[in-house]
Amino acid sequence: MNGQAAVVTGAAQGLGYAIAKAYIAEGMKVALLDIRGDILGRVAAEFADMGGDALPIAVDLSDANDTQAAIDTALARYGTPRVVIHNAALLITRSMLEITLPQWQKEINIILQAAFILSKSVWKPMIEAGGGSIVYLSSGSGYKGFIEEVAYNPGKHGIEGLMKCLALEGAPFNIAVNAATPGAPINTPMSASNYTEAQKMTWVDPARLAPAFVMLAKQDGAGLTGHRVAARANGKWDAIDLL
Ligand SMILES: NC(=O)c1ccc[n+]([C@@H]2O[C@H](COP(=O)([O-])OP(=O)(O)OC[C@H]3O[C@@H](n4cnc5c(N)ncnc54)[C@H](O)[C@@H]3O)[C@@H](O)[C@H]2O)c1
Repeated sequence: MNGQAAVVTGAAQGLGYAIAKAYIAEGMKVALLDIRGDILGRVAAEFADMGGDALPIAVDLSDANDTQAAIDTALARYGTPRVVIHNAALLITRSMLEITLPQWQKEINIILQAAFILSKSVWKPMIEAGGGSIVYLSSGSGYKGFIEEVAYNPGKHGIEGLMKCLALEGAPFNIAVNAATPGAPINTPMSASNYTEAQKMTWVDPARLAPAFVMLAKQDGAGLTGHRVAARANGKWDAIDLL
């Protein structure tokens, strides 16, 4: 994958940062998208110190126009990506009594609307390039219900649905589309806000999950597609066919 391009959302910290760093180590050029522009600059400088090429793009992925501008910037700089990892998400637990429509829309838009805009933007370029790989970060919330997740949970269910449709539509064009989940408890800012103390006892550095994402970047329509891939802490993964 040396010299090829990647787009990683939520790359300022947590799992997205670990995935972007693994891609830099593979020699990829990486567009780093995140709302935390303050952290992204430091991350890009760190990757430059590794000899890498990374472009920090500050973006609010809950906003359609901002999301479109960010992916257009990435495409203009690096050309068609080999892989797009839509990893950014927001989880704020609220009951149905508490949540407002704008709060619901914000979480849904970061997870699902951004997945659509990013995928739509690279779809034709990937077809013209002869293939590519698109990955959405899912969760147990992508297939089970959880209390007080009335926005995050349907957002994650939604991206699994979009993934299945695009895996089918992408196959003749050699485009792989998959969902991925952390197959181990990970030490990230999101986990710090939502894990119990017992869960924090066993959490691991998200860098240990990165090999599954290196594997996913190499997929195309003839490889692994239409699957939910659980990235394990031992550097391996399990994949379930959802088609
Ligand atoms: N942490 C877990 O245990 C866990 C479990 C299952 C699934 N996941 C999924 O894995 C992915 C990564 O999780 P994480 O734990 O690293 O999360 P995190 O909250 O630590 O990091 C998410 C990143 O997304 C960015 N982000 C949030 N809102 C944004 C916006 N509006 N625009 C642009 N960027 C925005 C944040 O700034 C942050 O850098 C998420 O999709 C999450 O749903 C995480």
